[in-house]
Amino acid sequence: MKKIAVIYHSAHGHTEHIAIQVAAGIRAVSKADATLLKAEDATADPDGILRFDGLIFGSPTYLGGVSGQFKTFMDSTGPLWRRQQLKGKLAAGFTVSSLPAGDKQSTLGAMFTFSMQHGMLWVGNAILPEQHAGVPYAEAANRLGSWSGLMAQAMHSSPADGFPSGDIKTARMFGHNFAETLERLGTAPLIRSNPLKAPA
Ligand SMILES: Cc1cc2nc3c(=O)[nH]c(=O)nc-3n(C[C@H](O)[C@H](O)[C@H](O)COP(=O)(O)O)c2cc1C
Repeated sequence: MKKIAVIYHSAHGHTEHIAIQVAAGIRAVSKADATLLKAEDATADPDGILRFDGLIFGSPTYLGGVSGQFKTFMDSTGPLWRRQQLKGKLAAGFTVSSLPAGDKQSTLGAMFTFSMQHGMLWVGNAILPEQHAGVPYAEAANRLGSWSGLMAQAMHSSPADGFPSGDIKTARMFGHNFAETLERLGTAPLIRSNPLKAPA
């Protein structure tokens, strides 16, 4: 069974709510197991994330980037980077913010660059926006039109589960797609060579 960690920070529960939906999508794939991991706990034990085959990162967008707590987690993986121990694992990212755009793209960009520095393989959000097929905007999968990662919009001053239903649907599809991709690619070990040696 493939093991996937959803590593997230959430101050007020919105990002956590989306993380739970992503995990539900993962678990709908029979050969995948999802673990929800708070960024603070991953920061305390960065080596602990090595046991997973795939990592999905989640952060609220704060001032156009990841939250401080999520950045602290990223920085705690420096020793893993030096040894390139995450190389070849699958990665993906999601972010939650209160505005429709809100500069969420910058947050996904930070997660993408982080994953590339680690030599991970990035999985996007391959979902056609359903409003083009006549589904009402609020209910449409990928209504925010984000392919590089998952975006969700927590309505202003809403409770933690205050999302348009389309965003919940998208989060589950995103997790499901990631787990299916891992299952398809994961028939052989993804880490092969010593990254510090050039090929002969
Ligand atoms: C310090 C701070 C900065 C924020 N910056 C943005 C922003 O750049 N764009 C945006 O749309 N929302 C912004 N927000 C709103 C949060 O992204 C939003 O409340 C989100 O749902 C918080 O997620 P959480 O409940 O998981 O903590 C900001 C909130 C805070 C506290």
